[in-house]
Amino acid sequence: MATFRLFSVLLLSIASLVLAAPVAVETDYDVIVIGGGPAGLSATSGLSRVQRRTLMLDSGIYRNDPTRHMHDVIGNDGTVPAVFRALARDQISRYNATTTMRNATVTSLESINNGSYYRAADSDGEEYTARRIVLGTGMKDILPITPGVVEGWGKGIYWCPWCDGYEHRGQSFGILGNLSDVMGSVIEVWTLNQDIIAFVNGTNTPEQQAALAAKYPNWEAQLQAYNVTINNETIVSIDRLQDGSTNNDPAQDLEFDLFRVNLTDGSSIERAAFITNFPDDQQSTLPRALNLTMDGTKIKVGTNMKSSDNGIYAIGDANNDGATNVPHAMFSGKRAAVYIHVELGRIDSLAAIGKRGLSARELEEEANQLIGDDLEHLWKRAQESV
Ligand SMILES: Cc1cc2nc3c(=O)[nH]c(=O)nc-3n(C[C@H](O)[C@H](O)[C@H](O)COP(=O)(O)OP(=O)(O)OC[C@H]3O[C@@H](n4cnc5c(N)ncnc54)[C@H](O)[C@@H]3O)c2cc1C
Ligand SMILES: *[C@@H]1O[C@H](CO)[C@@H](O)[C@H](O)[C@H]1NC(C)=O
Ligand SMILES: *[C@@H]1O[C@H](CO)[C@@H](O)[C@H](O)[C@H]1NC(C)=O
Ligand SMILES: *[C@@H]1O[C@H](CO)[C@@H](O)[C@H](O)[C@H]1NC(C)=O
Ligand SMILES: *[C@@H]1O[C@H](CO)[C@@H](O)[C@H](O)[C@H]1NC(C)=O
Ligand SMILES: *[C@@H]1O[C@H](CO)[C@@H](O)[C@H](O)[C@H]1NC(C)=O
Ligand SMILES: *[C@@H]1O[C@H](CO)[C@@H](O)[C@H](O)[C@H]1NC(C)=O
Ligand SMILES: *[C@@H]1O[C@H](CO)[C@@H](O)[C@H](O)[C@H]1NC(C)=O
Ligand SMILES: *[C@@H]1O[C@H](CO)[C@@H](O)[C@H](O)[C@H]1NC(C)=O
Ligand SMILES: *[C@@H]1O[C@H](CO)[C@@H](O)[C@H](O)[C@H]1NC(C)=O
Repeated sequence: MATFRLFSVLLLSIASLVLAAPVAVETDYDVIVIGGGPAGLSATSGLSRVQRRTLMLDSGIYRNDPTRHMHDVIGNDGTVPAVFRALARDQISRYNATTTMRNATVTSLESINNGSYYRAADSDGEEYTARRIVLGTGMKDILPITPGVVEGWGKGIYWCPWCDGYEHRGQSFGILGNLSDVMGSVIEVWTLNQDIIAFVNGTNTPEQQAALAAKYPNWEAQLQAYNVTINNETIVSIDRLQDGSTNNDPAQDLEFDLFRVNLTDGSSIERAAFITNFPDDQQSTLPRALNLTMDGTKIKVGTNMKSSDNGIYAIGDANNDGATNVPHAMFSGKRAAVYIHVELGRIDSLAAIGKRGLSARELEEEANQLIGDDLEHLWKRAQESV
């Protein structure tokens, strides 16, 4: 009964929306995908396979570029990220009848006529229009200025145990970042490393202790039980003594990096690898320029990767799906591609039978207000009724 009532309300609003219907606009593309990391490539693949007119624009700054090998991506465990992306591009290029890939930075993105279509301008001075936009623009890591951190990033100094931890299992280990994040790191790496020093770099303060205690009331006893020591000295530098790129045992999947941590009190401590807790942010300025609703530093999306703007989708690291890895980037790109294809298909199917005025976009907005993200269901029923 409740659902029936809901649906009646919807039909009423459809009737009122027909009157204010926008005129259909011919765009250069159906979809512009911004970003050519695993998320953007996956979305582009999904759109290409059904011959959606797709443009992928990529500025070529990939988050995992510094790493030696990509891990925990089944079928590609240990693949060099650039090799992985090149293969994806090569395969997508087969669909060149409808899909174009360009290396350029999108410098501005505009919603025209309140989302009737979108216009993107790039660093080559080109302009393109499309009905839908996919942002696979990624995140950037905000690394501290301490000498050695940027140089060691992805090569013995890393943030993700799944990405790089196994190659450093059993080795002497350091945790970098705020005291409040130490327990979380210990729990993540404990199966890989047991000789752990947390270099908290002067953050062993009452505020940080309180933040840690809020999450782990017995943190001091737990760290003691795990033999984790806390070093509160300010870090002067992290010097590389040995490079795991050349000192390694591929048969055993081991990389032998070695670092010396120099501290302000004049002491130094050697460690083979580090896990970090550093902040990150959107790599692109576009999400904030478009006033997309954010969730912290991430773009807030619904279950179909749709942002707060009806025609703009956000995929991969940039969205707030709670995951930052290549499998998630591929999944979310695929999901957005499928949803956009079906969404545009529905709009066009209505136009084909003369229901041109029935803007599915506005219908969806209406639906959004009524039932949040559970659109699939409602869409199907709305479709059946016309
Ligand atoms: C050191 C390191 C190692 C990692 N190792 C692994 C691993 O082993 N396994 C794993 O699963 N994950 C790993 N990750 C995580 C992985 O890198 C990310 O989850 C993944 O790259 C996310 O893909 P993405 O497509 O969302 O973003 P990215 O790969 O960062 O791609 C974003 C793309 O958007 C483009 N872009 C941004 N703004 C614009 C614009 N205005 N115009 C045009 N293009 C734009 C960029 O140039 C880039 O091509 C690692 C991360 C780091 C930092
Ligand atoms: C575009 O960038 C990719 C990798 O980022 C590169 O392989 C390719 O050669 C570039 N294409 C052009 C035309 O520059
Ligand atoms: C498109 O792809 C086909 C098949 O790979 C190739 O033969 C053709 O040259 C490509 N066309 C363009 C314009 O790149
Ligand atoms: C633009 O669209 C939004 C919904 O996406 C709607 O709330 C708003 O009223 C529209 N604004 C105008 C000026 O039509
Ligand atoms: C350590 O703290 C100093 C001073 O606050 C800061 O400048 C530096 O970036 C920090 N380095 C690391 C590795 O956290
Ligand atoms: C405990 O930590 C210390 C200091 O890092 C280290 O020397 C020692 O080997 C560790 N003990 C065990 C049992 O791992
Ligand atoms: C850790 O270092 C900071 C900055 O020097 C200092 O304020 C704090 O008191 C130190 N903590 C402890 C427990 O010594
Ligand atoms: C770190 O300390 C060692 C001595 O322990 C010194 O030889 C080295 O130059 C220092 N590194 C930097 C970058 O200052
Ligand atoms: C570490 O703590 C400082 C303030 O003490 C804060 O500004 C910073 O964002 C914190 N870093 C992370 C990764 O949470
Ligand atoms: C975003 O919001 C700001 C401040 O409210 C406003 O000035 C700007 O025009 C908005 N931009 C877009 C693209 O809506």
